[in-house]
Amino acid sequence: MKLGFALGLVGLVKSACLSTGNQDTVNQLLQQGGADTVVSLCPGATVSITDSIVFTAPGQEVSTQGYPTDNTRASIIILPGSAVSAAIRGNWQDHVKVLNIQIDGNRPNAGLYTGPGADALLELGGGTTGQTVSHVVAKNTRSWSCMHFIGSGQDDNPCRNANITFNTIGPCGDEGHDADGNALWADGMSIECVTSTVTDNTITGPTDGGIVIFGAPGSHFLRNTITSSSTALGFGAINMVDPSYDGNYSNVVVADNIITGVAPGLFNLGIGIGSQVWSNPHAEPNFGPATVTNNVFRGAIGFSIVVNGWAGGLTATGNDVSGVHAPSADTADASRCGAQQQASFDASQQLIVYAPGVAGPSNIQSEFVRIPNNGSNWLCLTHPLPTQQSYAPQTLFVTAQQSTVVDLRGFHVQFQGDGNLVGYDTTGGVWTPRWATSTSSAACGEDGASCLLAWGGDGNFVLYDADGPFYDSGTSGRGVELTFFNVAPWVTVTDAGGEVIWSIE
Ligand SMILES: *[C@@H]1O[C@H](CO)[C@@H](O)[C@H](O)[C@H]1NC(C)=O
Ligand SMILES: *[C@@H]1O[C@H](CO)[C@@H](O)[C@H](O)[C@H]1NC(C)=O
Ligand SMILES: *[C@@H]1O[C@H](CO)[C@@H](O)[C@H](O)[C@H]1NC(C)=O
Repeated sequence: MKLGFALGLVGLVKSACLSTGNQDTVNQLLQQGGADTVVSLCPGATVSITDSIVFTAPGQEVSTQGYPTDNTRASIIILPGSAVSAAIRGNWQDHVKVLNIQIDGNRPNAGLYTGPGADALLELGGGTTGQTVSHVVAKNTRSWSCMHFIGSGQDDNPCRNANITFNTIGPCGDEGHDADGNALWADGMSIECVTSTVTDNTITGPTDGGIVIFGAPGSHFLRNTITSSSTALGFGAINMVDPSYDGNYSNVVVADNIITGVAPGLFNLGIGIGSQVWSNPHAEPNFGPATVTNNVFRGAIGFSIVVNGWAGGLTATGNDVSGVHAPSADTADASRCGAQQQASFDASQQLIVYAPGVAGPSNIQSEFVRIPNNGSNWLCLTHPLPTQQSYAPQTLFVTAQQSTVVDLRGFHVQFQGDGNLVGYDTTGGVWTPRWATSTSSAACGEDGASCLLAWGGDGNFVLYDADGPFYDSGTSGRGVELTFFNVAPWVTVTDAGGEVIWSIE
């Protein structure tokens, strides 16, 4: 049913479309129209919202009139100052459709949203069948994903038969944390629906997973193009690591996808397969039979495919890593990784399997390197790290709660909750202390927040606790540069003439 809302005369107004409005305009049409209502936005229209657009009955659709695929697609944008991150919600409504529109979470202007209901930019799924998102642009989520199809939690009524095709997704999220410690990263798509079709999507600049497959037995992920941010780290391009459906990935197919890391951005992992691969390893293996074939990997990717913690069958053939940049050390750093991960990284290995961690039949292409040790958590890479790092006065303040002072190649400096400042050599995945201030404090607070390392405006390098300074370089009024090194001397303060006036050797 097309809705002739301009005159309220259904059928008479053939080409009515909504040329402006907000969530209330759209929600009224959906509520009044009932099942199968199509809200048709005019080409070029912008709908600015401060709350979610919500599908209220089966078969409803929001789309641009004429179904254009270019930038005349109507836009839905979240306004700054609003307490919402989900632009569209369509949970538990069969056959709803979001077609040929652009959805902008507006994170650069509206900011990260961590309040109540901090959900993905598009929230679909639940106990439903046949939902479609196609030819949609979705970017700048304020929350953890640009598109989430959630499961239902009901064995006999799973989210199923979703159709997610020809969408243009990203950027989604940013790298790292904000000043309050909130994670800034976000998925491109997070998919928990079974027997679904996720094909021909273009996902650019995801910072968590590009396509996160939450089990989703029977779903096919084909011909998607997943490209990293050109500046930021993305954790993974396609994830088969989460234990949804108790780890059931039966008849999941991941084929013909193109995964590209664009330096100085990168993907830490191309495709992660199994329960031991992500940063939250879990004991029970994920299981297939699953198929991961003919995917192409290019550019700045730390590890293209890692398999560990799998059972029930895996076919991984025809995957092409010939276009991945080598050596890996040009585009990433493994100083924060475990021993096996560092060894694989140093050898620029791209197709990696821990064979004892794979049970059941498998057909794995011969290029896979059989690693000798049980490497868990491959999500450990960073951008390439320097061998030394310098700071002008007033530019370095770190609490013992924040802990990390600086990461250097093969080296980590941390300010600990016991008031000690320690430099660790991380070579080989074993943290060996090389130097320390050997200070201690009982006044750092429960979480370390009361201890502060400060390289202040006066050029003095000081450690404070709740009671005041307890260590300093004695360079007030003279220090102009503080430098940390990954070889001795480990720390120096230099004066205006470049002379070292204080150091830790
Ligand atoms: C998916 O949705 C598109 C757009 O509506 C449609 O053309 C296509 O036939 C659908 N595919 C399936 C498998 O339902
Ligand atoms: C995995 O999922 C498939 C498809 O839903 C189902 O047939 C199979 O029984 C499941 N396997 C297990 C062990 O639960
Ligand atoms: C690998 O290590 C993980 C975590 O320590 C463990 O759960 C798993 O069983 C190990 N795999 C094998 C094959 O021993």
